[in-house]
Amino acid sequence: MRAEDNRKITETGPGTPGGDWMRLYWQPVALTEELDTERPVVPVRVLGEDLVLFRNDDGTIGLIDRRCAHRGADLSLGRLEDGGLRCYFHGWLFGPNGSCLDTPAEPEDSKLKQKVRIRSYPVQECNGIVWAFLGSGEPPNLPALDCFIAPEEYTFAFKGYLDCNWLQALEVGIDPAHASYLHRFEEDEDTDDSYGKQFRNASLGTNLPMTKILREYGRPEILNARTEYGQRIVALRKLDKDGLDGSSTHVRITHQVFPHGITIPLSATMAITQWHVPIDDVSCYWYAMFTSLDEPVDKATMREQRLEGVTLPDYKPVRNRANNYQFSYEEQRTQTYTGLGRDINVHDQMAVEGQGYIYDRSREHLSRSDRAIVTYRRMALQAIDTVAEGGSPETLLMDTADVESRGPIPLDGIGPTGQWEEYWAQSIADLRKASPWASGLHAALATGPAGVPDSEVEPDRSQSPDAYDRS
Ligand code: FES
Ligand SMILES: [Fe+2]
Repeated sequence: MRAEDNRKITETGPGTPGGDWMRLYWQPVALTEELDTERPVVPVRVLGEDLVLFRNDDGTIGLIDRRCAHRGADLSLGRLEDGGLRCYFHGWLFGPNGSCLDTPAEPEDSKLKQKVRIRSYPVQECNGIVWAFLGSGEPPNLPALDCFIAPEEYTFAFKGYLDCNWLQALEVGIDPAHASYLHRFEEDEDTDDSYGKQFRNASLGTNLPMTKILREYGRPEILNARTEYGQRIVALRKLDKDGLDGSSTHVRITHQVFPHGITIPLSATMAITQWHVPIDDVSCYWYAMFTSLDEPVDKATMREQRLEGVTLPDYKPVRNRANNYQFSYEEQRTQTYTGLGRDINVHDQMAVEGQGYIYDRSREHLSRSDRAIVTYRRMALQAIDTVAEGGSPETLLMDTADVESRGPIPLDGIGPTGQWEEYWAQSIADLRKASPWASGLHAALATGPAGVPDSEVEPDRSQSPDAYDRS
């Protein structure tokens, strides 16, 4: 990748081409639980902008500039009162929509407050996450994805900090081969104890542990197809070892959702949709929404499991660069590929932070297993250019009128070799039919075996020396 393209695709601050593109989409900026405190005021840094999020007594939420419009004091330490956030310096008061409501140090007849406004952005809450729209003009709807449509009790949200550029965090999520290495466990766990954990359960319809499949089949066949929401990624592992005759294939279907999200299976009936939102160019948060098709989510268990690995209030990992991720050589030799324990989020974290704060993609050697990454970069660079020329990217999901659900529905299961499309279609039809909330929705576009009409499986250009050549 050319250095200039690497800059274009990684930088998202105000006024950058990548930033203009990102600002067309709603961004997750906080968990709802962060506002469930005695003083619901949370400093937020997103896309390189310093803001403050707060909730008024009447429940309205505001996202405004962190710097006071008077002389720049830090409003995140302001007084939450009288319908807004009041600056501690001279008492100016700002409402959730950025209007200045009071300038108490000015003469009684001062009209100053009518002329002053502070930067503010529209916000909305959905299923445990506060979303903000940092673009100009009318915000689009949230797209009609399962995670937004599901009833709140069928979802659970969490987040975590990564000490590197957002694109590294996204790219690990669209790279199906790494799971056989980075997330390898030498011993299988009891799959009955897998609730809420990734890669620990048995695949749909079998009792073959995921850990065994990933460990023993390290060369998946990878297919990818462009879709209206981004990309569908298929990893196939034909099961032909240990007495298996190759008539069955492990099928793992995941999705890239623009601009910076993925949807992957946690278990047979639970999907994770995860966004990788830039804090700035050298750090990001992942926000995940877990969506269950069959039963309400045990949020307390899910939260407890995840709180073990982070420190609050920043959701920063306990294992990090500063403590060398608590790496254990003994464990690396005998139990795990990484020596970093059994939380796969930590493995991914070390992998992407290990690439540096902003990975220099002019030095890499892309391989066949990177095909979805190559496609993503092409699509994203194209979208950035389109937006810079005043156009609209094709992967913006604004309309919710014509479709009630776009999934996209991931899958992890074992089906007949050579028939993954039929197997996928049948499996998701069965799963949705049994779902209390999804059975009545149209599983349109994103779910059928062929995906979007006319979309084709991406040709394999990985052997080409100019895999990045966009011409
Ligand atoms: S700096 Fe905020 S009121 Fe003066
Ligand atoms: Fe991973």
